[in-house]
Order: sequence, then structure tokens, then C-alpha cells
Amino acid sequence: MNGQDPVTFYMNRGADLTGFRQALRSLIFCDTRPELITWRPHSEPELFGNRMPPNFGEASKPIILPRAVGKLIETVVCHSEPEKYPLLYDLVWRMKKPVNPEPRLMEVATDPLVARLNLMAKSVARDIHKMHAFLRFREGGDQTGAERFIAWFEPDHFIVEATAKFFVDRFTSMDWTILTPKGSLWWDKKELCIGPPASRSDAPEEDAFEVHWRTYYESTFNPVRTNLTVMKQHMPRKYWKNMSETRAIPGLVATAASRVEEMIEKEAAMPTRRNPDKAVALMEDQAPKSLEELNKIIKRSDPFIEGSDKAVLGEGPMHPKIAFVGEQPGDQEDLQGRPFVGPAGKLLDKALEEAGIDRSKAYITNAVKHFKYIQRGKHRLHQTPTAAEVKRYRWWLQKELDFVKPDLVVGLGATAVHALAGHQMPIGKNRGPAELDGRKAYITVHPSFLLRVPDEAREKEYEAFVADLKRIRRLAA
Ligand code: URA
Repeated sequence: MNGQDPVTFYMNRGADLTGFRQALRSLIFCDTRPELITWRPHSEPELFGNRMPPNFGEASKPIILPRAVGKLIETVVCHSEPEKYPLLYDLVWRMKKPVNPEPRLMEVATDPLVARLNLMAKSVARDIHKMHAFLRFREGGDQTGAERFIAWFEPDHFIVEATAKFFVDRFTSMDWTILTPKGSLWWDKKELCIGPPASRSDAPEEDAFEVHWRTYYESTFNPVRTNLTVMKQHMPRKYWKNMSETRAIPGLVATAASRVEEMIEKEAAMPTRRNPDKAVALMEDQAPKSLEELNKIIKRSDPFIEGSDKAVLGEGPMHPKIAFVGEQPGDQEDLQGRPFVGPAGKLLDKALEEAGIDRSKAYITNAVKHFKYIQRGKHRLHQTPTAAEVKRYRWWLQKELDFVKPDLVVGLGATAVHALAGHQMPIGKNRGPAELDGRKAYITVHPSFLLRVPDEAREKEYEAFVADLKRIRRLAA
């Protein structure tokens, strides 16, 4: 055979890795161009007679391929689309063809063929993951009456063989059978057999064992994490009918809200000071559904800094044009329980007025919700929060802004910008409009900076600050 003749290749239905490897060796050995090959499933009737030349199977020089390509082939042959074989062959052909080969083609993720094969591989991998996670055994029995666990599953792709090792490793000491419309597995504690497709009626109905599954699921279900959309993404509905515990979901979802309320009420102040990371994790678990709920959590929580344990919350309307984020409450703010009411706040008010921004229409908050200070005699001296502290408070700020939904967020000074961006950014270099962690933002100095600059520079700095605020007003409008 010279590789110039048309050829027809017959592949087993399903994931025919052996057949494809053989075909690949012969076809590449003969430099067969992809357009000369017809790929057919074995069961398809032969319309035009056998098209494979008699000496075709003799060529068997192994083909050396990068490991990633070998892995891709192994995965994509499991795909349900029959086009997988010509597509995989195209890939190998382009890497190996005698003229202008592309040996590094797999690295070109933007190549349409590579992109398509990667997507197919992803779809198969996802299907395998779902089968590992959502397959449920039911107690059945074999013809002799011996105990046997049987599972019914409906995969999208031909993944039954690919998942076999996982189930053998986990359920080695059980006799089990996995039935699917794409093939079946049979295990007797020693030997694995791969069998034909099955139908739903071959599997038993619900057994007593599943009642325990459901009880277990109910006891581990976390009502604060109830999010039906996410739940359906992780556990698509099509699998629910074969998973007994999912029958508990409607009831659990219906009562989730009241159970969350109960949990919030029960939880007194949390011991967070000693383990702030755990506190943040707990916060995530609580998943507040409104600004009000978030503020309740903030008020109840211990601070992540050494200083005051009274939280100063953000204030202002929801969905404002502008939200200002400062660093942390100062002495006056801590005493009065409101942001920006001390000397820096007074200066901010003056500049806002000059810039034509109505403070009452803006939302005002801080990156850190507690006053960090050290006591010196009668005075409480402000301390700048560390990067780790900013990070711990950041979760609250982000949640807060998610609820408030301002059109534009203004970072006043380095700490605020750090909390908004998720990393440190020098103010001098970045001053002006910005996008911070996906939010439309503006970076400027903190008003207390204007209180600290030497007298001769103060006026100029103040004017620059007012100019920023005017620009902010225009941007937000
Ligand atoms: N400085 C801030 O950053 N926030 C305040 O609330 C007061 C001073």
C-alpha cells in the first residue's frame, strides 16, 4: 500500500483505543493523508466493499508522540462523537506529515483543531468525574442469590472502562456490577469483566441502604450554603433520579432560610481573634444574603487587629454613584460609631463640597472596620494595619461593595487601594481612574495625608485632591 489510495477504517463502537492505535500506526507509516480515510463503526453495513488494502495491517512501527498527545488520545477516544477519530488523526498527521510537520502543534492552544480536541477531552474528564461522584450502588443479588451491589448510571461518553480502576480500587472487597447504556462492568473481588450496554430495568429499585444515604446527606447538608444554581452546576439534575439522597433536597432547600436564622441567633461572639483565618473561613460559610446580614456578622465578630472591638460600619444609600473607601476608623469615628467624622472626615467634607459632591448621596466605608491603636497615656495612637490584617478584612469589604453596588469606588490612600485591588499599589504611580478587582474605580490620596504634608505643600495637594474629586464626580455621572 502506498498511502495514496483511499482507505476505510472500521472502529469498534465506544472507546476503541486499541483499534485507533493500530490504525494510526499503519496510516502514519504509509503517510496516508487524512482526506483519503473513511472512518466507520464496525456495525455499519459495508456499502462499497472493504476498502482496506490487504497488506495494511502489516505496518506496525510504533509512533513516538509527546506524552500530552498520548493522554489526549486516550481521553478523546472515549467521546461520544464519531468524529473523534478523524479529528485525532488530523492532529497526529499534522505533527508527523513528511512535508512541513508541526511537532509542537499541541502547544498551540488557539489552533482550532487543538482547541476542539481540548474541549472534547474536558467534556470526557467532566463526565468521568461525575460518574465517580454520583454513581450509587443498590443492594441486589445475582442468579445464585449471593449478595451483589448494582449501580445504574447514564454517562454522556464511553467512559465505562476508563472509570473501572477507580471503582475496583474503592470497592475491592464487594461484588458489584455497574450497568450503563454504553457498556457494563462486573467485578467479583478478583476479576473485572467488561460487558455490553444495559438498560435501566436491569438495575434494582431503591433499597434499605439508600435510606441511610439520605439520612447521612440530611445531616451533612449546610443550609447557609444553599444555592440551587451552584448545586445544579455541581450535581446536574439528570443525575438526581439515580441518587436517593437528592430526594431530600426540596425539603432541605425549603427550610434552609429558617435554619440559617437559627444558626445566626445561636452563634454568640465568635472566638476569632486568636485565629483570624478561621474567622474568615467561617464568614464565608455564613454567606450573608444582604448588607444587613453582613453588618450583623461584622458587629458580632471580634476584631482582627489590636485596638477597639467596636466595629464602625459603612453608611450611605444603596446603589450610589460613588462609594468612598478609607483606611480604618480613627479615634473620633470609634467614639461616634460613624466613618469619617474626625479631622480627616471634616477635611473630606470640605473638599467634597468644593467638588460639588453631596456626601449624603455617596456611600462611605473603610477597608478595616475597627480602630487599630496603641495607648500612650490618655491618647490612643493610630496604627497602620498590616497587609495580613487588610487581607482578613478584605472579605467583608468585598461583600459589602457587592451588596451596595456603587457605580464607581474611590480608594482613599494605600490601605483602601490595597483592599480594593487585593495587592499593594503605590498611590503616586497609580493615581487616577483604574479598575480594581473588576470594579470601576478611582485611586487618590487619603485626606489625612493632606493634614500631614508640610505647610508649604498643603494648598497644592489639597487642590489636587479637589481636582480628583471633580473628576470622580464627572466619571460617576
Ligand atoms: N480615616 C479613615 O480612613 N476612615 C475614617 O473613617 C476616618 C479616618
